[in-house]
Amino acid sequence: MKSVLVINSSLNGAAGNSNKAAKKYIKALNENKPANITELDLNDYGLPHLSAEEMQAWRTNASERSSSQEALANHSDHFIEQLFSSDEVVLAVPMYNFGIPSTLKAYFDRIARAGKTFEYTSKGPKGLVTGKKATILAARGGKYQGTPMDTQSDYIKNFLEFIGFEDINFIYIEGLAMGDTSASDAWKNFDANISELFTMVTDY
Ligand SMILES: Cc1cc2nc3c(=O)[nH]c(=O)nc-3n(C[C@H](O)[C@H](O)[C@H](O)COP(=O)(O)O)c2cc1C
Repeated sequence: MKSVLVINSSLNGAAGNSNKAAKKYIKALNENKPANITELDLNDYGLPHLSAEEMQAWRTNASERSSSQEALANHSDHFIEQLFSSDEVVLAVPMYNFGIPSTLKAYFDRIARAGKTFEYTSKGPKGLVTGKKATILAARGGKYQGTPMDTQSDYIKNFLEFIGFEDINFIYIEGLAMGDTSASDAWKNFDANISELFTMVTDY
């Protein structure tokens, strides 16, 4: 059975459109072929900005860490372990001020770790999180897919590729704040995309 890690980052919790998209994705996944699903809501962690002290704790051998270093390193160690034990990562991502939620940035800061999830070689950086699939459910109030203003998609793709992902798929739910018709069309489109995706996918 595949292990799927679903990461929610909406500040609206369960009421968020991106969370709603994640629920629909999980339902389709379970109807297709049940997977081992772990759901993570980044709001539950209250991750602070990454600090020099926290990075120093990462660099200190686990057996030599002080108790405060142990506590500091715990988030990153846990998230990286969880990442490596997943076959697919689903990121439910709202667009906030043209970027990703700061909770998701704080999470990315914990999983990008030299020697663990990437390394530098004479040929440049090499991602170590390989053989996994990433699905991004991108919920937006406006419509930006495919336009120069959608720097969010490139940022997420670049980051995931940097740590080793090669199979990265975006599914958009756009125009959610552009009136009822636009929102309902966005969900219809999303449902159709999900249903097509799970018809196409045979390896689940
Ligand atoms: C703080 C904040 C900033 C937002 N910025 C944008 C934006 O830059 N572009 C956009 O299309 N929608 C923007 N939205 C709308 C969200 O993308 C929209 O509400 C969507 O449903 C995803 O958010 P949710 O999962 O929290 O519901 C913003 C919403 C909030 C709360």
